[in-house]
Amino acid sequence: MMEELWYKNTVIYSLDLETFMDGNNDGTGDFEGLCNRLDYLHALGLDTIWLAPFQPTPNRDNGYDISDFYGVDPRHGSSGDFVDFIHKARKLGIKVIIDLVVNHTSDEHRWFKEARSSKDNHKRNWYVWSDKRPSDWNQGMVFPGVQKATWTLDKKTKSYYFHRFYEFQPDLNTDNPEVREEINRIMGYWLELGIAGFRVDAVPFILESPAMGKKPLPLHFDYLKEMRRFLQWRRGDAVLLGEANVLPAESKKYFGSEGDGIHMMFNFYVNQYTFYALATADTKPLIKALKATKDIAPGSQWAFFLRNHDELDLGRLTEEERQKVFERFGPDKNMQLYNRGIRRRLSPMLGNRQQTELAYSLMFSFPGTPVIRYGDEIGMGDNLALVEREAVRTPMQWSGEKNGGFSRGNNLINPVVEDGYYAYEHVNVDRQRRDQTSLLNWMTALIRIRKECPEIGCGAWEIIDTGLDQILGMRYTWKARSLLIWHNFGEKSTELVVPEKQAGTRRLIDLMNNIESVLDEKGRHTITLEAYGYRWFRAEAE
Ligand code: NOJ
Repeated sequence: MMEELWYKNTVIYSLDLETFMDGNNDGTGDFEGLCNRLDYLHALGLDTIWLAPFQPTPNRDNGYDISDFYGVDPRHGSSGDFVDFIHKARKLGIKVIIDLVVNHTSDEHRWFKEARSSKDNHKRNWYVWSDKRPSDWNQGMVFPGVQKATWTLDKKTKSYYFHRFYEFQPDLNTDNPEVREEINRIMGYWLELGIAGFRVDAVPFILESPAMGKKPLPLHFDYLKEMRRFLQWRRGDAVLLGEANVLPAESKKYFGSEGDGIHMMFNFYVNQYTFYALATADTKPLIKALKATKDIAPGSQWAFFLRNHDELDLGRLTEEERQKVFERFGPDKNMQLYNRGIRRRLSPMLGNRQQTELAYSLMFSFPGTPVIRYGDEIGMGDNLALVEREAVRTPMQWSGEKNGGFSRGNNLINPVVEDGYYAYEHVNVDRQRRDQTSLLNWMTALIRIRKECPEIGCGAWEIIDTGLDQILGMRYTWKARSLLIWHNFGEKSTELVVPEKQAGTRRLIDLMNNIESVLDEKGRHTITLEAYGYRWFRAEAE
């Protein structure tokens, strides 16, 4: 049964067309460019692409402000190019997930233009209005420091519209059955064009009804089930992957007690404690976070990631924990964002190859589906001179040629990183492809190993007690197979003594190095973990 669920053992690669590859050399990435790079993605070993929004947009929030849900922004190509891309990806066995951004539209969407034209316009109720300014008009902003309000006056009809995000992103009224019907139509449209599912943007906000100064109303979790039912009628194996940065107890409501809600969710909680563990070498809170998110229905699945296209959100840590992560990974004010996060890429944050490998090995071993962000496979850097989250959205570095091989044009959507250690002359695909010891080749091997370990995506797991706070040990079991994986967050190399009872086997086969461990005369395995080291073993069946 588990084998049927393709999303349990896939590897997801997230990319934004805008900055991935420019095929027509106008300075902005497009479908033509992406199609020319599908071989690269295939060779890397991943089998699902999560494509950031590419629909028509004024582009004031990286495309998350959509002005037409049924098209392709001309900067990226045409609908024909989209279908070509889906076809080419399918030929290589690559599935495509796209963003479903239906909490809000752009204020330039035709629906909002109609809605604001008069109070009795038919589209009025597609959005959320209040004649008076609600007392909480300046509460609950998602981008504090940049966003000033959640209710903004619309002059023409002299009333306020609700926007959880920037003021140019009015919230759709998902309590309105007509809006729900339209959302189904959007899903149906893209499913018909061959996509494998959706990364659902801002899920908690889709489920809320604004409280207007009163006690918050309960979220409409039933709506997730409704969405899923529709999705599954149209395409049985399509999935919903939700963005919801919520506490563990809440997340169960998103999955549904029967696993009849959303299929997958990003595990923001474990993500934050992973960075805490990397910053402090204390794995206790990480173990707690893993355990707190353990108990989900069999068909439900966590998606694990290290960095994404937004800031590294540390909002779920305590103040003291957050400060420790800031100190280690984002000490300058300019590296921090929205009072809660860090706007840097992974490699510059961690600062060395060993810790980068540790972080990736860890993420790939977490009980769920790994998601990598474009450019992280070569250890790309960031550009803190760019505003807000743009810092981590610089063009992919393909080669040492002009603009890092991203485009031959002159007017780039974002500048390519050209200074210092992370400059495209040093950090690029071409160079790393030829270097056996490169991060790119290391990552390709890691992806292959992960795909050979279905225990991780499908199986049960438990913590192996090591008695050492800096070492995390985990065991995965599925059918007759079992894996034992250890990660050392400490800066000193360590020898672990693992009794046969704990290992559960006499022979441990190292999946990354050509060695194996057999029991010594005292009936124990001795496992050496280098500084920031990691070891993956398959237990040989007795
Ligand atoms: C979450 C997305 O990840 C982020 O980039 C965007 O700004 C907001 N949702 C609003 O759509």
